[in-house]
Amino acid sequence: MFLNDNLKIFSGSGNAELARAVCKYLEIPLGGAEVERFADGEKVIRVEDDVRGRDCFVVQSTCRPVDEHLVELLIYLDCLRRASAKRITAVVPYFGYARQDRKDEGRVPITAKLVANLITTAGADRVLAIDLHAAQVQGFFDIPVDHLSGELVLSRYFRDKKIGNLTIVSPDVGNMKIASRYADRLGGELAIVHKKRVSGTEAIAQEIIGDVKGRNIVMCDDIIATAGTICSAAKLVKDRGAEKIYIGATHGVFAGQALERLKEAPIDEIVVTDTIPLTQEARDCGDIKVLTVSSMLGEAIKRIHRNESVSNLFTDH
Ligand code: R5P
Repeated sequence: MFLNDNLKIFSGSGNAELARAVCKYLEIPLGGAEVERFADGEKVIRVEDDVRGRDCFVVQSTCRPVDEHLVELLIYLDCLRRASAKRITAVVPYFGYARQDRKDEGRVPITAKLVANLITTAGADRVLAIDLHAAQVQGFFDIPVDHLSGELVLSRYFRDKKIGNLTIVSPDVGNMKIASRYADRLGGELAIVHKKRVSGTEAIAQEIIGDVKGRNIVMCDDIIATAGTICSAAKLVKDRGAEKIYIGATHGVFAGQALERLKEAPIDEIVVTDTIPLTQEARDCGDIKVLTVSSMLGEAIKRIHRNESVSNLFTDH
């Protein structure tokens, strides 16, 4: 693939493996940078490549430790701006803090907006992200945002499995639109679970609209954090007579009791993407399949660099 020396990709420590896979797809080397710490823990980043007048991309998932990775991204952006990069794109496969995107009670922050402001102020000219929890988070940025979705790779995987008698289940109302796009791609029927969130770590699936009895289920979500949502929904559809249950989610956070819950839930397969590296614990449990978004991200970066359409990516596949 022909890409000129103008394109530079750097990686934070949030997901270096994915950044390397993106560079492999693009057939370019990963940009060199040295990351050190002062004695008090402050980070200093020195970019080793000449970036003056170049089109630079920083790949950083702001996954755990979230604050650490976020600050590292901000320092990278500042560093590239001061080194006279021509254009800087923050590539954020997993955007931490996105779920606090509105004030649903008094005296709480809107962290998604705060982080959008920080990324812009630090020097990003554009953002490339995957499944930002709510599509309207794009509007929190006053710079262009290219918003990709893990549903491209996940739905292709489920389509190849040729699951018969299929119903796509949305585990809550918020995911309805995504579930209906899955149904369009996979050709199944649609059902939706009414979920009540009891606390940050507990969700109760209360009712299902749609038919799941005797059906094979693909349940899709943007994120599995504590797995409360997905496990409670899986139990409910199983109780209502579902056959096999497959779970597809873009971001595998797997926090708190997630792995224990998943082990106990009536789930036949869990599939996530590599926007977040799996923790050792999640790897050890051996039941989680990971699909890569590297070629989708690489293709988007190539198109942004060449000023070509990124939205075409959604129809090309
Ligand atoms: C909710 O709006 C999201 O789409 C996810 O369903 C939710 O964030 C998953 O969180 P948990 O796994 O902790 O239930």
